[in-house]
Amino acid sequence: MKEKGSVTPYEVDGEINYSKLIQEFGVSKIDNKLLERIKKHTKDLHFFLRRGVFFAHRDMNWILDEYEKGNKFFIYTGRASSRGGRVHIGHLLPWIMCKWLQDKFGAEVWFQFPDEEKFLYKPELNLEDTQKATYEDMLDVIAIGFDPKKTHFLVDTKNANLMYPEACKVAKKITFSMIKSSFGFTDSNNIGSIFYTAMQAVPAFLPSVLKGKNIPCLIPLGIDQDPHFRISRDVMPKLGYYKPSILHCVFLSPLTGIGGKMSASGEDSIWTTDSPDIVKKKINKYAFSGGRDTIEEHRKKGGNPDVDVSFQYLKFFFEPDDEKLKKIENDYRSGKLLTGELKMILIEKINSFLKEHQRKRELAKKEIGKFLVK
Ligand code: TYM
Repeated sequence: MKEKGSVTPYEVDGEINYSKLIQEFGVSKIDNKLLERIKKHTKDLHFFLRRGVFFAHRDMNWILDEYEKGNKFFIYTGRASSRGGRVHIGHLLPWIMCKWLQDKFGAEVWFQFPDEEKFLYKPELNLEDTQKATYEDMLDVIAIGFDPKKTHFLVDTKNANLMYPEACKVAKKITFSMIKSSFGFTDSNNIGSIFYTAMQAVPAFLPSVLKGKNIPCLIPLGIDQDPHFRISRDVMPKLGYYKPSILHCVFLSPLTGIGGKMSASGEDSIWTTDSPDIVKKKINKYAFSGGRDTIEEHRKKGGNPDVDVSFQYLKFFFEPDDEKLKKIENDYRSGKLLTGELKMILIEKINSFLKEHQRKRELAKKEIGKFLVK
């Protein structure tokens, strides 16, 4: 039986306790000392780092040791498409971090689109669906603003010539029992899904293969993806490569309540393709409120931003200015700001973000060729 609150790439169940996850996964908390060390190189700190949106890591100090010795790292992350237009705003958190790190460290980015992954896991999907959706999702990734000269898209079924031989080398070092215990698989899982972790491991060392020298790798991701790398980090030194370092981010919650994971199957998610009207309707209808039942009570006792989804979205994504965020928090706690007003602030912020994102997403249609690995 899976425990409530369990986190794997294929199931995020119930409310998530991040302190417990740090222990269970054996990752390290991002502390002030590490933040200061990063800041030495970046001059400022992205608010995702200041506010604990990225909260844990593996071997981040090692990657900085290497960087300080002149051994520059590359960045690796990915997206497994299911259906077109199903990128939600939560997916963007790791990608925005990658773009910031690319700018600050001048790093190459390798972006994997495993177009077979969700096909293998979801009975209702056929391969043509996920391949078509991959194209759609590339537009969202390009819209984040990656440098086309330094960003490389790998598509598993298209770049199989490069990836499959390396995946075989990884797969030979992984047993079925390791996969079973990491992902909760049983004998009835299809054999494609059992193999898949080997494909996800490949981009973490493929640039080293192509350059003929070991290059450190940093992987920003949502913590649900960590189990793939827990396995492949053990394998990579056996193949002669560095273990990749990892930066973990928390999940942006579904609209219906803090603590879970916004998912690509829920209607309580905000898609990057949503119109302003849909966003308004979704926030007004679903966004869980920390406000009181009546305006009188709210004015008297104040609201609770700690459980309020609109406030969380502002904190984790849409209000980068610390002072403005503090004022919103104080006004909400004191009862000066009502739930409806807080929701209006968020709706405007999301819609202005999406307007720009959708504009760049359109322009990206002409850019895709620059990113694809041939
Ligand atoms: P996928 O497509 O499910 O998700 C893409 C990225 O988004 C993160 N994510 C979230 N982050 C914050 N809040 C959320 N609510 C949320 N939901 C999803 C995921 O953790 C992921 O980082 N197997 C991968 C694709 C992949 C990959 C990688 C991911 C291939 N190689 C290397 C990270 C790093 C997948 O299915 O991601």
